[in-house]
Amino acid sequence: MGPLTGTIRVPGDKSISHRSLMFGALAVGKTNISGLLEGHDVLATADALRAMGARITRHSENEWSVCGVGVGGLLQPEQALDMGNSGTSTRLLMGLIASHGIAAHFTGDASLSSRPMGRVIDPLSRMGASFHAAAASSGKETLPLMMTGCHPAVPIEYRLPVASAQVKSAVLLAGLNTPGITTVIEPVPTRDHTERMLKGFGADLTVEETGEGRVIRIRGDAELSPQTITVPGDPSSAAFFIVAALLADGSDLTIENVGLNTTRAGLITVLQQMGGQIDLLGKREVGGEPVADLRVRHSQLRGIDIDPAIAPSMIDEFPVLFVAASLASGTTTTSGLDELRVKESDRLSAMASALRLAGAIVEEREDGLVIVGSGGAPLRGTTAGPVATHLDHRIAMSMAIAGMVSSGGVEIDDTRPIATSFPVFESLLEKSTASLRCAPS
Ligand code: S3P
Repeated sequence: MGPLTGTIRVPGDKSISHRSLMFGALAVGKTNISGLLEGHDVLATADALRAMGARITRHSENEWSVCGVGVGGLLQPEQALDMGNSGTSTRLLMGLIASHGIAAHFTGDASLSSRPMGRVIDPLSRMGASFHAAAASSGKETLPLMMTGCHPAVPIEYRLPVASAQVKSAVLLAGLNTPGITTVIEPVPTRDHTERMLKGFGADLTVEETGEGRVIRIRGDAELSPQTITVPGDPSSAAFFIVAALLADGSDLTIENVGLNTTRAGLITVLQQMGGQIDLLGKREVGGEPVADLRVRHSQLRGIDIDPAIAPSMIDEFPVLFVAASLASGTTTTSGLDELRVKESDRLSAMASALRLAGAIVEEREDGLVIVGSGGAPLRGTTAGPVATHLDHRIAMSMAIAGMVSSGGVEIDDTRPIATSFPVFESLLEKSTASLRCAPS
């Protein structure tokens, strides 16, 4: 494969895009959003909010507005809410509905229907919501599910049993329309977009760092005022290009406007520890989030032991980090990654199988992978049929990058899931590898 060169921008952050629509839908008045990610997951959130009364308009590419119904104003949806592949849409919307006196039927694709919902059902039930398995459900804690919210709901103090921004956000969103103070205690910090953005929308929310962890309190019966939001580029999408540029000989790629919130930037730290040349240029704030332009140059990476404490700040980036480790020199060891087993797929098993099929040396352990790198030599590529992506966009994109740094290429069974988070992935990859071919010699 040729080097990656030139300057690119990745689409807007998925987590911030979901939240922009949701919080806009709860404000009274019109929220304007630029840079909204137009991936299927975010579109599922938009459709669900429309079904509950918000007026959501797409004005031009990535430029959207939301006329909200006000906290407490969500309407009963008439049809099932189809969440597609999106865990964030499902869990956060369950939080919103939990403290409204309405009922909703949640459905999703095969991947989403196998993901655990008990983690939000438990705290939201304590607040008064009730959940029932829908007819086709295989169990009480997976989709399809019927839920009935409760108003007034009961404020709770909830200590997160798993490091999950989705669970934290579900409880805080339920707290918005609950009298009194709802508290979430987060022993391990996770992405904090909900806290930052709710404050920006005018919610009375405080964050206290204590010996127990972060204590987040939200005062209910909130009034949110509409905002103008600029969504920064998604670091989780930039990750594929960062790794591709580090691995492909001769690369020198600039990725502009990448969100660098510390709760999201773990991959950059780890790749720098592995010897990756990544420069953070023009650090600034966009939409209340730190961003920078990243200059990434080809580097020979070294395998390392990755500290499990950094995992929450790069939780979605492990699949592509495993690709980087496969070409490093020496061994990379990861641990503490049980959460990867309940993402869009079991990402430890899916990546171990896929990378082995492509010729990498991978040991799968209960809570992580151990990868013996090739020392920079290209992977062989697939010879025994395509890798299975299990409806997981990040497996598909990670293995596309693995294919670029293999001698024979990697065959992928299904690239359609890529559109859930990064619809322009393939065209951007073509653009960044084509610019050198077009450049004068
Ligand atoms: C997200 C939180 C993370 C992440 C997901 C988006 C969010 O999930 O994996 O892609 O926007 O809150 P968990 O809360 O399950 O860790």
